[in-house]
Amino acid sequence: MFVRNAWYCAGWDYMVTQGRNSIVARQLAGERVVLYRKPSGEIVAMEDRCPHRQAALSLGAKEGDSLRCMYHGMKFGPDGQCTEVPGQASIPARACTRVFPVVERDNWIWVWMGVAEKADVALIPFAIGPGDPAWRIKTSHMHVDANYRLEIANLADLSHLAWVHQKSLGGDDAETRHQYTHIKSKVTTGERAIRTEYLIRAVPPPNFLRHLFPAEARFDLSFDITHTLPCTWVLHFQAFVANGASEGAPTGALIADTYTCQAVVPNNADSVEYYFSWGSRADLEFPGLSDLLRDVLDIAFLEDRHVLEAQHIRMKEKPNFPMVSILHDAGPSRMLRLLDEVLAGEAGSAFRPADTEAALT
Ligand code: FES
Ligand SMILES: [Fe+2]
Repeated sequence: MFVRNAWYCAGWDYMVTQGRNSIVARQLAGERVVLYRKPSGEIVAMEDRCPHRQAALSLGAKEGDSLRCMYHGMKFGPDGQCTEVPGQASIPARACTRVFPVVERDNWIWVWMGVAEKADVALIPFAIGPGDPAWRIKTSHMHVDANYRLEIANLADLSHLAWVHQKSLGGDDAETRHQYTHIKSKVTTGERAIRTEYLIRAVPPPNFLRHLFPAEARFDLSFDITHTLPCTWVLHFQAFVANGASEGAPTGALIADTYTCQAVVPNNADSVEYYFSWGSRADLEFPGLSDLLRDVLDIAFLEDRHVLEAQHIRMKEKPNFPMVSILHDAGPSRMLRLLDEVLAGEAGSAFRPADTEAALT
């Protein structure tokens, strides 16, 4: 179900601190992981499971670079090796816990869940984090009780902005709806990522910005999205004053230049953690804009959650329900097919397109 040889986001860097009790439990692609910082600041990620009796190490205590299980007191170094068994002199040979490669980049914590020797930092998706001084990026987080394939499909088809997000990111007017449901995009498929670029011309501002502009204001909106497996979604979004051009790149004044970076992380088959951000280029920021962008994502992702959680329940009730396909399934099909190809590659089996069809439709 999950790609093993991949980096999974374990949250924002500020979620794992030097605090005594900052011992953070995560479930990443079905595996229990505990994260803590050594006094040097380096993060350790190890299996959240004591090799003695499977107590949660995340209920343990930090001791310098080490973590002590607070059930029977066994102590583990940052390499996962047991260094102390209270009450006995010898340490059993198998007394160690698995450690995972960890990298902090763009203020995200990335954990490699596959074969450690294959961990390749070049596979970490491009993003812009809140620490980048050229941008004013604001962050947030949400838990969603839905399978991550539904999240992938949701992010790979933005026609839902006209419906799910009619009151927030999209619009409930005929003009906006027409544009979002007739998008013509340029699609570039890579080994583990799909890039989608498109323009929406001469539309009213998204609903959450309409109060800032006169009713007749129209903008050209540029979307440049890179969607990377397992599920990182980065959008470079720009808004230009519409000047009537119907061909080529927008030539009106650039009024907003923003990045939103989103990591959807499967905990297991039934839920995800969603770590996301949005913000403006620093020199185009006006006070309050980036906070507004982050706040509207908090609202919009509650709108998605409402839909996806209900959909997830129904998918589980009737997994073989004969669903209908429409034109807007093209993006989700493409992304899920890429996921299935990588999964099949790891399983050593040949990829069958029918797998994607069955999972999606
Ligand atoms: S379960 Fe951890 S020391 Fe016993
Ligand atoms: Fe959405």
